[in-house]
Amino acid sequence: MDSNQLAIAIMAAGKGTRLKSKRPKVLHEIGGRALLLHVIAAARTAVPADHIFCIIGHEADRVRAAVASTGVQFVPQPEQRGTGHAIQMLKAFFELSGTTLPAHLIVLSGDVPLIRPETIASLRDTHLREHAAMTILTAVPPNPTGYGRVIRKAEGQPEVTAIVEQKSLSPDQLSAPEINSGIYCFDTAALFAKLDALTTNNAHCEFYLTDVAAMLVADGRRVVAVKADSVDEVLGANTIAEMMHLDAAMRLATAHRLMAQGVTIFRPETCVIDAEVSIGPDTVIEPYVQLLGATTIGSDSRIRSYSVIQNSHLGDNVLVRNGCILDSSTVAGNAILGPYAHLRPESNIGEGAHVGNFVETKKATLGKGSKANHLNYLGDTIIGAGVNIGAGAITCNYDGVHKHLTTIGDGAFIGSDSTLVAPVTIGAGAYIAAGSSITEDVPEGALALGRARQTTKPGWVAARKSATQNKPTSNETEPTNQSR
Ligand code: UD1
Ligand code: CA
Repeated sequence: MDSNQLAIAIMAAGKGTRLKSKRPKVLHEIGGRALLLHVIAAARTAVPADHIFCIIGHEADRVRAAVASTGVQFVPQPEQRGTGHAIQMLKAFFELSGTTLPAHLIVLSGDVPLIRPETIASLRDTHLREHAAMTILTAVPPNPTGYGRVIRKAEGQPEVTAIVEQKSLSPDQLSAPEINSGIYCFDTAALFAKLDALTTNNAHCEFYLTDVAAMLVADGRRVVAVKADSVDEVLGANTIAEMMHLDAAMRLATAHRLMAQGVTIFRPETCVIDAEVSIGPDTVIEPYVQLLGATTIGSDSRIRSYSVIQNSHLGDNVLVRNGCILDSSTVAGNAILGPYAHLRPESNIGEGAHVGNFVETKKATLGKGSKANHLNYLGDTIIGAGVNIGAGAITCNYDGVHKHLTTIGDGAFIGSDSTLVAPVTIGAGAYIAAGSSITEDVPEGALALGRARQTTKPGWVAARKSATQNKPTSNETEPTNQSR
């Protein structure tokens, strides 16, 4: 189909009163991404971004800012007077901007986020094949309560007589099983011709887009229903509980996509994996792992339980032991992290490097094969290859006002419990004696000791004990009744 023939409207102006949340409904997240972004991503597979019209109203600026980068167009609906009113605003927008009317208009709901591109395409195809004025995407979920119901002319027939909202169902319609998904394909001219006739004579005193179905039927136009392949993809998110149901469904789908690509995920229902995450084959994800944002993991890696990895890139054959936290960092192949390592943003862990127990890094580059295995803080530092950072050694990167850089050359050895006071440079192959405070640069190959000399007093303990025994305590000189 010529792309000018089809446009997509996404209704996203509603407040989401049933969520009881300050955040606009379409910006609530499932699978780590805003509802509206899921819907836009699906719409983008059918039409170019400038053929997508997001109808926004409640917290419009916030919604616009959150999705502006997708390149969609925005249609304001300053007052939210119902789904029919939302489409009235679209019609006004088309008229005002002189937009050529697309022959067909797909309408999506910003709060029905699991809709798949394949389903949008098949809705469009059915609509064209059926020569319909309106094609309604439907489903038969286990519990249809709360949804509008699609009433067919006869069972098994595609033709529909009406969509009836939950609150308007007659007693014999209450058990009608087929729900309206809130997703439609219209003949644009037929739809727009009916909008002015919508009324608010209903339980919510709103303009219902759903009323257009019966109006078109009354005109002798063809209105048909098509069932979605899966029920989950047309479920709406009107409450936090419904949203979390969709979140679980989406994350499980993500886990299954990854498993189909050769990733082993033990107990996938315990893992939180965002939609964008990609993982190479033969990588193992243990229970209770969170992989968030645009995280990528290579092949043959293992992520042990209770690790949380966000917006980070891990190479092949990486071992992340239990309880690590990684944020916006990169880890090269064969590296080993944890248990309980904390990689804060801009940590770059080199090939085969080790970052061990209770080590925190931030803006830190650790070169190939370097090791920081126990209790370190490494911030604002560039560490070369083959460096050994002893237990408890830290960079002192902050003087209370500014952050300073520590540079450590290849093959250097930083003794345990050293403090490297930045800015400071340790040359390649240099040794820092354990317990040193290093405030001056150390040249290549040098040994630096920066600690007070030890004083040892032989026999001091015994001497002190006998001195204290000979001196009477205050209790013995002035005994009191209480002390006995
Ligand atoms: C709607 C349908 C219902 C269907 C259900 C599927 C109507 C009257 N009812 O009910 O038949 O079963 O979706 O999920 O359409 N919106 C606007 N402007 C408004 C009002 C709503 O843009 O003035 C947007 C909302 O942000 C939301 C979508 O339209 O994304 C649907 O609105 P909502 O109030 O959630 O409709 P439902 O009661 O779920
Ligand atoms: Ca809804």
